[in-house]
Amino acid sequence: MTATLLTGIGLLATQDDELGELADAALLIDGSTIGWLGPAGQAPAADRRVELAGRCVLPGFVDSHAHLVFAGDRAAEFTARMTGQPYTAGGIRSTVAATRAASDDQLRANLARLAAELRAGGVTTFECKSGYGLDVATEARSVRLAAEQTPEVTFLGAHVVPSEVDRTAYLESVCGPMLEACAPHCRWVDVFCEQGAFDEAESRAVLRAGVAAGLIPRVHANQLSAGAGVQLAVELDAASADHCTHLSPADIDALAGSATVATLLPLVEFSTRSPYPDARALLDAGATVALATDCNPGSGYSTSMPLAIALAVLQMRMTPAEAVRAATAGGARALRRDDIGRLAVGQRADLVVLDAPSYLHLAYRPGVPLIHQTWIAGQPA
Ligand code: NIG
Ligand code: FE
Repeated sequence: MTATLLTGIGLLATQDDELGELADAALLIDGSTIGWLGPAGQAPAADRRVELAGRCVLPGFVDSHAHLVFAGDRAAEFTARMTGQPYTAGGIRSTVAATRAASDDQLRANLARLAAELRAGGVTTFECKSGYGLDVATEARSVRLAAEQTPEVTFLGAHVVPSEVDRTAYLESVCGPMLEACAPHCRWVDVFCEQGAFDEAESRAVLRAGVAAGLIPRVHANQLSAGAGVQLAVELDAASADHCTHLSPADIDALAGSATVATLLPLVEFSTRSPYPDARALLDAGATVALATDCNPGSGYSTSMPLAIALAVLQMRMTPAEAVRAATAGGARALRRDDIGRLAVGQRADLVVLDAPSYLHLAYRPGVPLIHQTWIAGQPA
């Protein structure tokens, strides 16, 4: 096993409550985990050294919400939106048609391309949802292909009811044969709880069926309108309520008093010209907040966690420290992972080296490619 010492770290922002931020630091990668970290002057011997010349090191970003198994794009829908059309859930169905028509290799290639984009943006762990198949065969294919790329696979058969299918029959399938075909490849079950998608009772039934099949719930909640999604997520002890764009004071209290993470997806509000969620109210109430990309061909086709962080700071009034915390430790909480999202001895060596002296620059220099290096499980990515 080779030990690599990263030294000359200008700022090591560990996201660990005890370790905090260290200036002039070093970090030892021992195989796939972190063997040591501390002041550069006290660093142990290593097989090789990498001099970082004052750069900032962070835990790798954890993207806890992405839809990456699909074919085609929705550039025409985007153009219409830029000239005044609102975003609606219905656009999902056009991606479903393209996805069903694609071969495994086409879907695999598109997924690999997007995964490479995520890594280039400093993402070291990502979640990936189904939801553009919406029949048993294509949903099963979607989760199988996603599982080739990540252990964090989510069954989202309840994305919308597909065209020309009876609603009751579709829900029976999602809670029955479709779930049965998908669950072996998944860790999570999700539902789009929204007008034009699934109502509260339908969403509860889908999530309960998923739990009975051994999956952990997460919810697309309160994205396009106020609704029951957040309360349902808390009721079912979901790992995460995602979007949280339209929250009542009771929703904020419920999240703050629960283990359910509020996952905010500002690239969607940016891409749909929608109002941003009230991150300040969530943070000030004590809720755990995560940031994720929600990369998908409809509501936001970006894989950039650095841009999500910049938007969280510039548009949602999170501090740079809060935004970085949400994109690392927050994402890890949203995926209920203890081995990632913070830097400490024994943690997985998932790191981002910024071409900047501080993480402040992620917001200060929006849109600039600041990822110098990414390490995943101790290997350069
Ligand atoms: O998270 N809200 C539901 N699903 C995606 C959008 C899917 C699409 O438009 O294709 C989202 O925004
Ligand atoms: Fe989503």
